Amino acid sequence: MKSLKTLGQFIIEKQADFPYAKGELSRLLRDIGIAAKIVNREINKAGLIDDILGRTGDTNVFGESQKKLDVYADEQFIAALKSGGECCFVASEEQEEGIELVDSGISKNAKYIVCIDPLDGSSNIEVNVSVGTIFSIYRRKSAVGEQLTQEDVLQCGLDQVAAGYIIYGSSTMLVYTTGKGVNGFTLDPSIGEFCLSHPNMKIPETGQIYSINEGNYLKFPQGIKNYIKYCQEVDPESKRPYTSRYIGSMVADIHRNLLLGGVFIYPQTALQPNGKLRLMYECNPLAFIIEQAGGKASTGTERILEIIPEELHQRVPAIIGNTEMVDKVLEFIANSKTISYV
Ligand code: AHG
Ligand code: MN
Ligand code: MN
Repeated sequence: MKSLKTLGQFIIEKQADFPYAKGELSRLLRDIGIAAKIVNREINKAGLIDDILGRTGDTNVFGESQKKLDVYADEQFIAALKSGGECCFVASEEQEEGIELVDSGISKNAKYIVCIDPLDGSSNIEVNVSVGTIFSIYRRKSAVGEQLTQEDVLQCGLDQVAAGYIIYGSSTMLVYTTGKGVNGFTLDPSIGEFCLSHPNMKIPETGQIYSINEGNYLKFPQGIKNYIKYCQEVDPESKRPYTSRYIGSMVADIHRNLLLGGVFIYPQTALQPNGKLRLMYECNPLAFIIEQAGGKASTGTERILEIIPEELHQRVPAIIGNTEMVDKVLEFIANSKTISYV
């Protein structure tokens, strides 16, 4: 029988890659893994619990209606980060202001900043479609004991020390990187452990899947419209027409493309000049993972990981996938003389 390696064992083994590591990042990843299991438990039985499905009646920072599970997941991850003691600041999609944890005793020497989308794709919850959690981890730049600054909180994606996602799908997986490749773990519910199932993940070099919300077609920039038409053309040599797949949970679309090859696009539109997706806890972590797996992530004009953030909830256009397909989209953008939307 194949021996199982749990996430906990793997994290400890990998600590040796960082000779001066004191185990703090390992503990932080472990804390996130524990919260993920609690959230997974609730998501799995959501249909059974009176009242957990559905809206809270409140809206989040973006004026988007909050689902009860959005709030539940947010509370669970923040509680795990608070009690774990390794996180000094957490920025969440569900909280307008970031939360400083340094005053809470146990976290007073904490060195890490976490940006998190606690529940990604939450509009899919009610219809039993995959949702996820996305997280990004930075090391504070200021010394422990000093006041946290803007430079600590608004770091560029290249400074991420780790990033990952959990997909609550037909099985639940945790995928993460610390900048030395990407590894995926599947939750074995019988033992309650994430077990290494996808070591050293690499995105295929070619792909035939494009993921974009085509309902917004009329509002897309001309280059994106042209690319969509290119995907739909018949050309056996390049295996076109490509397949269109769009789940509406970014985590699930990116996860599928990571395994099969493909490109995920959420462009700017006439109505949303910076697109919809958030830099700090959606695009940066997924860009880091996809780059680590051999792919590419761009806004259409610049590498996502090189953006210097100006605010916590900043939005950016996103084109993320295997390098060949992303480059093709960029070629269409560059060749369209105008970014006009009609
Ligand atoms: P969230 O549920 O965290 O707000 O994220 C939803 C995001 C992303 O996961 C998904 O790809 C996208 O919104 C879907 O947006 P559209 O419905 O506009 O296509
Ligand atoms: Mn999201
Ligand atoms: Mn969310």
